[in-house]
Amino acid sequence: VSGLEIRHAEPADHARVTAVLDDCWGGGRHMVDMLSRLFFIHFRGTSFVAERAGALAGFLVGFLSPAEPAEAYVHFVGVSPEERRSGLGRTLYERFFELARANGRTQVSCVTSPLNRGSIAFHTALGFEPSPPKAGYDRPGEDRVVLTRSL
Ligand SMILES: CC(C)(COP(=O)(O)OP(=O)(O)OC[C@H]1O[C@@H](n2cnc3c(N)ncnc32)[C@H](O)[C@@H]1OP(=O)(O)O)[C@@H](O)C(=O)NCCC(=O)NCCS
Repeated sequence: VSGLEIRHAEPADHARVTAVLDDCWGGGRHMVDMLSRLFFIHFRGTSFVAERAGALAGFLVGFLSPAEPAEAYVHFVGVSPEERRSGLGRTLYERFFELARANGRTQVSCVTSPLNRGSIAFHTALGFEPSPPKAGYDRPGEDRVVLTRSL
């Protein structure tokens, strides 16, 4: 991850993140619909952007749960295809873990589709435990795996 600059997200990052999002995930899924600009406004202090020479390399959008005082939640994480498997996803999560711990959080969670094997393998490598698929967890008619990790 040398040569990368990691900083907090800003509202102006939303347009470039969404511009690459569907390509980044591959194959016809409309991930843009899940990432409103409001995250880059209200959760910018708990979200991170990684850049290499000014180009977007990766991002993590997360927040400290307002309802669950022990929990932090990651809504979205993505690394550009050319930067993958070099530790950037792990580095972004480590920054988030550090921030969550500093704010008294003891657990981090996120959700993913049971079809997203890469995401489940990545989170497992980072110490998350996947739940069995839960029907209708995030929206009607769709299963989700809930991944949790203690801090
Ligand atoms: C998932 C994603 C964020 C991983 O980022 P990355 O920078 O490539 O991950 P890292 O290089 O930090 O890898 C960390 C660990 O996860 C493992 N890992 C990462 N991607 C993996 C994959 N597709 N399959 C299996 N293991 C994987 C690595 O081997 C590494 O393990 P190790 O440290 O024990 O060797 C990236 O592939 C991506 O953006 N995918 C598309 C978006 C997505 O699915 N996001 C998650 C849903 S919100």
